[in-house]
Parts: sequence; structure tokens; C-alpha cells
Amino acid sequence: MFETPTSTKQHDESRQGEALILEKDPQKSSGRKLYIESYGCQMNFSDSEIVASILLDKGFETTRDYKEADVVFINTCSIRENAEQRVRNRLKEFESAKAKNPGMVVGVLGCMAERLKSKFLEEEKLVDVVVGPDAYRDLPNLIEKVDEGSRAVNVLLSREETYADISPVRLNTNGVTAFISIMRGCDNMCSFCVVPFTRGRERSRDPQSIVKEARDLFDAGYREVTLLGQNVDSYKYENINFANLLQMVALVDPLLRVRFSTSHPKDITDEVLYTMAKHENICKYIHLPVQSGNSRILKLMNRTYDREWYMERVDAIRRIIPDCGISTDVITGFCSETEEEHRDTLSMMDYVKYDFAYMFAYSERPGTLAAKRYADDIPEEVKKRRLTEVVDRQREHSLERLKTYVGKVHKVLIEGTSKRSDKDYCGRNDQNTMVVFPIDERYKKGDYVDVHVESCTSATLIGRIIG
Ligand code: SAH
Ligand code: SF4
Ligand code: F3S
Repeated sequence: MFETPTSTKQHDESRQGEALILEKDPQKSSGRKLYIESYGCQMNFSDSEIVASILLDKGFETTRDYKEADVVFINTCSIRENAEQRVRNRLKEFESAKAKNPGMVVGVLGCMAERLKSKFLEEEKLVDVVVGPDAYRDLPNLIEKVDEGSRAVNVLLSREETYADISPVRLNTNGVTAFISIMRGCDNMCSFCVVPFTRGRERSRDPQSIVKEARDLFDAGYREVTLLGQNVDSYKYENINFANLLQMVALVDPLLRVRFSTSHPKDITDEVLYTMAKHENICKYIHLPVQSGNSRILKLMNRTYDREWYMERVDAIRRIIPDCGISTDVITGFCSETEEEHRDTLSMMDYVKYDFAYMFAYSERPGTLAAKRYADDIPEEVKKRRLTEVVDRQREHSLERLKTYVGKVHKVLIEGTSKRSDKDYCGRNDQNTMVVFPIDERYKKGDYVDVHVESCTSATLIGRIIG
């Protein structure tokens, strides 16, 4: 099974193994070193910033080398089987470091910890602590237990925990863009998905704490925030819905760009679309996972919308925000999917012409509704062949979409120097497409510039600053 992201989008579940780095604060230092590595979706990367905040408060400092760490954490993802396999392989690599330094504490955090619970301790001998996503406040206490010679587990899920009062330490940051968690958990029970089991019930975070975090980021020089949740459209805190929250964050400052992810097709409202249209600084970009273009498969997936509903939502986006970028997630080879039903996914892609897509072969997850109810009966090679067809189609569409941006002027927020060339800046336009252009010394990271786009590949726009 393989995953083939075709885009540069930040909310990328296939991201893996980035270590978080922070300069140490000598005043608080206890000399104990923390190494933390994150896998999975952006929520996990955000959670690692909460974890680091909790431990830095206890005097830890961070290191970028696990071999010299006293505490090694791996924040894990369970979304597909290969995501879990990657974590197990990585744990093997920690073995020799632990053999050299038996006092080293190895902890598994996140979704895999929640899914496997204490079974993890039986399966992976080098693991000392297993901690689920709602139990991070307990980490200092759990580390203490390990210091005293036991192994520790806390995988309690909570109906209330949002870590609203903890300021995440911004690690590995470009100083310009940041993520803000606005809710946790998911109540949707899509039949293929493990998230409701690993993240628990959906709960929304106090809007005042979200606005404060956005304002603090802006004051610290950040110019873009992405509001994160598995289903942002169902955000609800007392009488504040997602459209209200979006507007509150947009009003922090006109120079603060606002993005969000992920939108659920069943819940995205015209009110949200009109709010986006009304505020210049809310980026014109929506990630709207379709999963399948066929109504029977959508029903089996328990997505609670059908093909027509999804198309109507896309029409509404195009009507209310004509220049909106749209991206999606697709699963190929879900239980009992026929060739004809697969072709419905391709024709849905033709209808929408997504800017980007994340595409996956179906991976059965233990305990999910699909695993209980339906046979995982599409042969691996068929899933992969369908995936290749979907990926190829998306590549054509990405190129087609990006070509429509060529010859136009785009407002771009400079995020830093391009990874490919130190003579170029990079940043994204409103529609979330990466734009690369020659460095102009008059402008720096965090500035907005007008870029005239002259050419493109299927993932990047290439241009130069004008004016
Ligand atoms: N909350 C988001 C999705 C989060 S998971 C939403 O509702 O859209 C990210 C993506 O992983 C999903 O959109 C889906 O395309 C994919 N995914 C989830 N479970 C999967 C599975 N069992 N096999 C293959 N892909 C899966
Ligand atoms: Fe999973 Fe569905 Fe919730 Fe997304 S909305 S996290 S796919 S259950
Ligand atoms: Fe993975 Fe958990 Fe996110 S399963 S995709 S890290 S919510």
C-alpha cells in the first residue's frame, strides 16, 4: 500500500518523523533533554507543541538528537496500517540508543498509543510510557513513575480536555505561519476511520482562548494561522458557531491571514462561505474531502452525504467564492467498490477539478465499523491500480488549475527561502498553492508581495515580484 500526496499542502497526514526543535531556556533548565518526533496529521504536530510546553515548564530542554536525549517521545498515527508500521520501524532504531543509555525513557504518544493501550508495552519491549491524546497533562507524573522503575500507561479519553490554557511552544517554526487547534475528537463515525476511537468525542475550545492565541501569534510576528479540527464546520461553543469564530479570528488584524482545515461536506454552510467572501484575509481555499464519488460507497462509508449533495456544495463554493481553491482526500478500493463506482470518483474529480488531492488505497483498521461489517474484498493490486488512475487524473487537474493562475498577479505571504534554491523566496497564494520567485532584498519573511506568475509545474507557481 502506498500514499501519493501530489501537493504541497500543509495539512498532510503523510508527513512523518519531523523532530521538533527549540532553543533552550537556561533559566528553567533541569538539564534533562527531551526529543519528540511527530507522525500523522497536523493535529498531532500541534499536540507535540503542547507536550513540549508541558515538559519545558518542568525544566526540560529539547534536543534534535535522540541519541543524547533522556526522554524520547514518538507521537504516532493510526490512520492506515503503513502509518503504524513506520512507527514500529522507527522504534527499532531507538533500541541501540536505549541499550547504551538504559535510563532513557521511551514514550509512545498519540493515536497509536490510544488504539493499542497497554498492549503496546507487551508488543514493544523498549517502550516505557504509553499516553493517549487527552492525557498529556499527566506526562510529568508518568515520567516520574518510570524513573521509579515502573512502566506507565494513561490512555483516558476526556469529554472536556482542549488544552485551552496551555500556550503551545512553537517548535520548528518559520516564524510566519502557525496552527491553532480549535477542537478535538470526532463524532462522525465514518466507517473506515479510526479517529473517533483514538481521539474520542468531539469538543470545541473556548473561542476567547483561540482569539487570544491568534493575537499573541500576530504580536510575535506571525502572519498566518490555520484553525485545525477534524470537522471544523461542527465547531460549537455556547452560541458561537464556526462562521462566527472565523470572523472573530479574521478581525484580529487585516494583516493576519486565516486558513482552516478540515471541512466536512455534510456540514459546510453557506454562512461559512459568505464569511469567507466577506473578509479579504480569510484565504479562499477549502479542503473538502470527498472520499468517493459514488453514492452507494459514500453510504457504506457512513459519510452521510451523497454525490449530488457534494456537487451542490461545490457549486455553492464556486458561486459564492468564484476564485476559491478546493482540495480533497480520496480513498480507492473501499469494500465492494466496483469498477463503475471507481469511475464515479474519477468523474467527480473531472467535475470539481481539484487544486490538490491526497489519495489513499483503503486500509482496513481494526475496530472500525467497516472492519466489523464489510469484507475488505478488493485485491491489493486493484486498489493500487485504481489509486494510480486517481493520482494520474489529479496530476492533470492540478496542472490545469495551476495554468489558470499563470499570467496573473497573486498576493503571496513570504514564508522564507525556497528549499530548492537559496536565491528564491517561497510562499503561498490565497488558494494555498506554493509560489516561488527570486529574492528581492526590499522584502523579507512575513511580508506580503504581489507576484506576477509566469509559469508553473503541477505543484508550484513560478514568478517574480512586481511593484
Ligand atoms: N477529518 C477528515 C479526515 C481525517 S483522516 C475528514 O473527515 O475528511 C485523513 C484522510 O485519511 C481521510 O480523509 C481519508 O481520505 C484517509 N483515511 C482515513 N482512514 C483511512 C483508511 N482506513 N484507509 C485509507 N485512507 C484513510
Ligand atoms: Fe474520520 Fe470521518 Fe471523523 Fe474525518 S469526519 S476524522 S474521516 S470519522
Ligand atoms: Fe493519524 Fe490520529 Fe491524525 S490517526 S491522521 S494522527 S488524528
